[in-house]
Amino acid sequence: MILIRLLLVKSEAKRLDCFLLVIGYSLLVIGYSGRQKRITNIQQGISNKEVKSERHRDVIRRNNKFIWKRKHLLSLRDLSRRELEHIFETAAGFEQFSTRSIKKAPTLRGKVVVNLFFEDSTRTRISFSLAASRLSADIVDFTKKSSSVSKGETLIDTARNLEAMGIDIVVIRHNAGGAAKLLSRSINACVVNAGDGFNEHPTQGLLDVYTIIKERGSMEGLKIGIVGDIAHSRVARSNIWAMTKLGAEVTLIGPPTLMPPKVDQLPVNISYSLDDVIEDLDVINMLRIQFERMGGNPFPSVREYSHFFGLTVERMQRAKDDMLVMHPGPINRGLEIESQVADGKNSVILDQVANGLAIRMAVLFLVNQAAAAENKS
Ligand code: MLT
Repeated sequence: MILIRLLLVKSEAKRLDCFLLVIGYSLLVIGYSGRQKRITNIQQGISNKEVKSERHRDVIRRNNKFIWKRKHLLSLRDLSRRELEHIFETAAGFEQFSTRSIKKAPTLRGKVVVNLFFEDSTRTRISFSLAASRLSADIVDFTKKSSSVSKGETLIDTARNLEAMGIDIVVIRHNAGGAAKLLSRSINACVVNAGDGFNEHPTQGLLDVYTIIKERGSMEGLKIGIVGDIAHSRVARSNIWAMTKLGAEVTLIGPPTLMPPKVDQLPVNISYSLDDVIEDLDVINMLRIQFERMGGNPFPSVREYSHFFGLTVERMQRAKDDMLVMHPGPINRGLEIESQVADGKNSVILDQVANGLAIRMAVLFLVNQAAAAENKS
């Protein structure tokens, strides 16, 4: 309107007046939207420099419309599609951190995060520690071997004792399915499941899906194969829930002896032959055989397993040219995957590790935000 009037006004002075009005109005609009953006960024602990790209601006704009309410992350089975998307949107905002010279945000300053790991871990524990440290939290690392658990203390007693010291978030890995849930019912701190028995490994599932979305733009309609030891894999379960909720078609591939009980109740296809399905797959996730969780041998020999289910250079020639190759690690080179494939052009295995950091920052940020909202109300 003002612009039209500006063109219609004849007198020089009036035209100048209108021109100044337009400039003033534009500055007002720019100033207001800049302020709103700064507020959002401060809430997220992200400086303006870091949200340069259009993608991150979009992400943060959408983020404003959803309120995360869970102070625990126990499983992906529980989450809605919108909740999953919200985690990815938050992770996208945090991703810029890895490229900064100072990799810190003040988001969890003054908070204590405990890594309560009753099982061995390299990637997950370090990734959670790094994520917490990038958010400025204090971190306590607990391992079973060096604790009173080796003297017979129960999980709940250990956690309650830690809580008495004022912890805010517990990241737990345990060999019993349901341990994270049990803990969340027994203490006030936020609980994040870093792998419970055969049940779930939610942050691994999230980082796997996040990696695929970054490569492919969306999960909708993708054909994904999860290959190997499905029976003992918490990664497979978290993958199945997140991938299918976001519109992918999942096929579990492996010998019948490595399929979980009640597999027919899962929202997946099943194949006992990798060769039958490899040509159709957009993504393949190769699982480790979890010998440490097995009673007996689920197949005649490791060589035979590799022959039928290993991802070899020869098999890759029959796959789609751009099929993504994934693995949650640790890799048994030569068993479930050949070295040339693990390190080859289709592999996104190291991207998964890198993306895990942003995902875990997002999860720690969100559970803490939900706890803070709960304490206020
Ligand atoms: C897990 O903890 O489940 C791993 O990340 C996958 C594996 O151990 O094979």
